[in-house]
Amino acid sequence: MQYSSKYIIGFAAALCLVCAICVAGLAVALKPQQELNKVLDRKEKVLQVAGLLDEGAKKPAAEIQALFEANIRSQFIDLETGARLDDAQLKERGIDPGNFDPRKYLSENGVDVEKNPAGVPEIPPVAEVYEVMRGESVSAIILPVHGKGLWSTMYGYVALADDGNTVKGLTFYEHGETPGLGGEIDNPLWKSLWPGRKIYGADGEPEIMVIKGQAGPPDVAPYEVDGLSGATITARGVGYLLQFWMGEKGFKPFIENFRKGGAS
Ligand SMILES: Cc1cc2nc3c(=O)[nH]c(=O)nc-3n(C[C@H](O)[C@H](O)[C@H](O)COP(=O)(O)O)c2cc1C
Repeated sequence: MQYSSKYIIGFAAALCLVCAICVAGLAVALKPQQELNKVLDRKEKVLQVAGLLDEGAKKPAAEIQALFEANIRSQFIDLETGARLDDAQLKERGIDPGNFDPRKYLSENGVDVEKNPAGVPEIPPVAEVYEVMRGESVSAIILPVHGKGLWSTMYGYVALADDGNTVKGLTFYEHGETPGLGGEIDNPLWKSLWPGRKIYGADGEPEIMVIKGQAGPPDVAPYEVDGLSGATITARGVGYLLQFWMGEKGFKPFIENFRKGGAS
């Protein structure tokens, strides 16, 4: 049986249309689930960086949620002053704390900052941070950080001990660096080099940096972490983004309040 060219083209076009509708429909239908999964993934990372969940431990969503609720307190702060914001202040600023998307908030409310080595173009007026609770007191704080690597913006969390200076952990939940090169920022061995390092030098300014080569243990090199061979740009980017977010334009005012006991 022979089909005319018109029939074949028409058939192909109809098939394309049906497929396009199916794919678009699926994408729309799955979006809410994808968003929920992203939120859950971030909670998992927060728990990991707090040392409350082993990396690679496959826990059901309900367990992650329960662990998060039992140990972590979400806190909204004014980034410039470091002051905590209550529900009324959040409402005034049009923020729903139960439905906060930091990336969307930044894209809609970001304030330009001077060009900086971390490649951060703008900062949010309000940020969500996390407190690790031990009973009624805060045993650690977890701060969201991001900055440029070689190919991508790297998004992660840094956990600081209750002195507001000692690193408890660093982890990234999203980046597009090359697997095996810059992607080694996810390597548990490299991440294990971070706990015990100090952020602030004697002058109170962020001094932490990733160096080229080996730094040695935290008691020998409190402000330095080993570089990643073949991925100096990504590794340096990690150092720069920490310097930025621990600095005056980042979380330094909040950390200073926290050290004075104003945030616990
Ligand atoms: C395909 C390809 C992918 C690369 N990916 C990365 C990367 O993710 N991060 C990075 O810092 N360097 C990456 N590099 C290497 C950089 O171009 C650069 O050479 C390197 O950062 C220098 O680090 P080194 O001084 O330790 O060699 C990549 C290079 C190539 C060819």
